[in-house]
Amino acid sequence: MHFLPDGMEAKMPVAGTVARGYKPFDIDGSLEGYDLAKATLVSPLDSTQIDSQRGAVLYDIYCGVCHGNKGDGQGILVKREKILGVPAFDDPGRGLTQGSVYHTIHYGKNVMGSYANQLNEEERWQVVDYVMHLKAQLGGSQTVKD
Ligand code: HEC
Repeated sequence: MHFLPDGMEAKMPVAGTVARGYKPFDIDGSLEGYDLAKATLVSPLDSTQIDSQRGAVLYDIYCGVCHGNKGDGQGILVKREKILGVPAFDDPGRGLTQGSVYHTIHYGKNVMGSYANQLNEEERWQVVDYVMHLKAQLGGSQTVKD
């Protein structure tokens, strides 16, 4: 499958189109869509395409304020009691998968808004990979992938 070379994220696809090499995200924002994504959706990035440094930078900018830089749910807004109910990524009750994390970034979940306008598809998958890394670091059940 084709994949976008570095720097391609600067060129946002026109609304309604899908950048070459990406599968359209045709799972909807419903609870059923969430479950489907959780069970079936996997990252299109292979190990050579994963840029964990960029994933970490994006994560720290967009997610860290709530989820904490370690993903333990202790971000600055949580500490200042500006938001409640932010989970740690290894929360056993949630059983995060690549697909569920992608769905959550794309559509949001309850109090958490969508990041579809802030992060393009490739960036979302970089963040997904980083979230799964943090989950593994926290000691969750996720096996670290290569
Ligand atoms: C303003 C605070 C806030 C920010 C910023 C935020 N989140 Fe969340 N996030 C939440 C809250 C609150 C929940 C709990 C939602 C629920 O389950 O009701 C949550 C839930 C989640 C979950 C668990 C979803 C599940 O399957 O149960 C994941 C994964 C997640 N966020 C990832 C991210 C990522 C990645 C980013 C950055 C792109 C991000 N969040 C940014 C507040 C935030």
